[in-house]
Amino acid sequence: MSKKIMILPGDGIGPEIVEQALAVLSAADSKFGLDLEFSEGLIGGAAIDEYGEPLTDATLEAARQCDAVLLGAVGGPKWDKVEPKIRPEKGLLKIRSGLGLYANLRPAILYPQLAEASSLKPEVVSGLDILIVRELTGGIYFGEPRGIRTLDNGEKQGFNTYVYKESEIERIARTAFEAARKRNGKLCSVDKSNVLEVTVLWREVLDRLAPEYPDVELSHMLVDNAAMQLVREPKQFDVMVTGNMFGDILSDAAAMLTGSIGMLPSASLNESGFGLYEPCHGSAPDIAGQGIANPLATILSAAMMLRYSLNGGKAADAIEAAVSKVLDEGLRTADINTDGCKKVSTAEMGAAVVAAF
Ligand code: NAD
Ligand code: IPM
Ligand code: MN
Repeated sequence: MSKKIMILPGDGIGPEIVEQALAVLSAADSKFGLDLEFSEGLIGGAAIDEYGEPLTDATLEAARQCDAVLLGAVGGPKWDKVEPKIRPEKGLLKIRSGLGLYANLRPAILYPQLAEASSLKPEVVSGLDILIVRELTGGIYFGEPRGIRTLDNGEKQGFNTYVYKESEIERIARTAFEAARKRNGKLCSVDKSNVLEVTVLWREVLDRLAPEYPDVELSHMLVDNAAMQLVREPKQFDVMVTGNMFGDILSDAAAMLTGSIGMLPSASLNESGFGLYEPCHGSAPDIAGQGIANPLATILSAAMMLRYSLNGGKAADAIEAAVSKVLDEGLRTADINTDGCKKVSTAEMGAAVVAAF
C-alpha cells in the first residue's frame, strides 16, 4: 500500500527547501521501493492569500488522512500586519494542536565536518549530540485567557496565560524519559520553578515519574542557566525536556552549535505516533527567493519522517549518510560555508544529496 505524504511548503524559503527534500524523497523512493504518494496543500501566508485564513479545515482534514506531513516554513513581512487571529503562524499552531502533535523532537547533532562552521570553538562542540524534547501543544502558546485589553484608565494591557495540566506534563515527560533511556540515560528538565508555579508543578511531575525510569538520571535546571550552559559546555546535555516557549528558544540556540539553524530538523508526534516533520527555522524572508537557503534541515526532517512514520529506517540512514558524504565533499550553502569549502546554492545542495545516494 502506498504511503501518503502531505506537503505543505508554506512561505519564504519554504517552497525552495521543500523542493529539494522532495527530490531526495523521490530518490529514496526509487532506491528503496517505499511507494510514496505526495499531495500538496497551502499553509501560512500562502493560504491567507488564497483562502483568507492560514490553514483551512479542509487542509487540516486532508493532512489527518495522510501517513505523515512534511512542512517548509510559514510567515513573512507581507502578513505581519494581518490581525493576530489569522497570522501565518496561527496555521502552524492550528495543525500542531489539531493533530495533537504534543511531542516535538529537535535533535541538535554536529556533523564533524561542520565543527568550523559553529560559532563556538570546535573543541566545545565536537561530538555534540543533544535531543531537545519540546512540549508543543500547550503552555503559554495556547493558554487562555489571552489578548490585549483596555484598562479603566484607557491604557492597553497585553496578556497571556502560562498553564500546564499534570497530564500534559506527564505525557511529554514520558516521551523524554523513553528517549533518554534509548540514548545515554541522562535527562535534564528545564523550567523556571524559582518564579513560575506552573513550572513548580512541571518539576513535581518529573520527580514523581523518575522512579519509574531508574536507568535514567534526571536533573533539573533553570532556563536562564540552561541557555548559558548550552553555549558554555553543551556536551554536558543528552536529552533536554521543557515547555513550549522555553523549547522554542533553547532549540534555536542549540541549532547554532551545529553550525547553522539551517541544519536542525524536527519531528512533531502525537499519541499514536503520527508525525509532522519540519525544519526548526523559519521562512527566512531576508534570503527568500535568492536560492541560497540551506535545505539540509528539511532533508534531514524528511529522513526523520521515513524513520518515525513510514517504516523507512534504512532509507533514513541512507539520506543521513548522503548528507554526510556531501559535507565530506566540501559542499556548503552560504550559512555553513568556511575557508576551503565550495559554496553552493539550495538546488545544488539538494542535487548533491540525491547524487550521493
Ligand atoms: P528565521 O528562522 O526565518 O531566520 C532567522 C535567520 O536565520 C535569518 O537570518 C535567516 O536567513 C537564517 N536562516 C533560517 N533558515 C535558514 C536556512 N535554511 N538557510 C540559511 N539561513 C537560514 O527566523 P525569523 O527571521 O525570526 O522569522 C522569519 C519568519 O519565519 C517569521 O514570520 C516567523 O514567524 C517565521 N517562523 C516560522 C517558523 C516555522 O514555520 N516553523 C519557525 C520560525 C520562524
Ligand atoms: C518554531 C517557530 C514557531 C514556534 C512559530 C512560527 C509559531 O518558531 O517552529 O520553532 O514558535 O513554535
Ligand atoms: Mn522557533
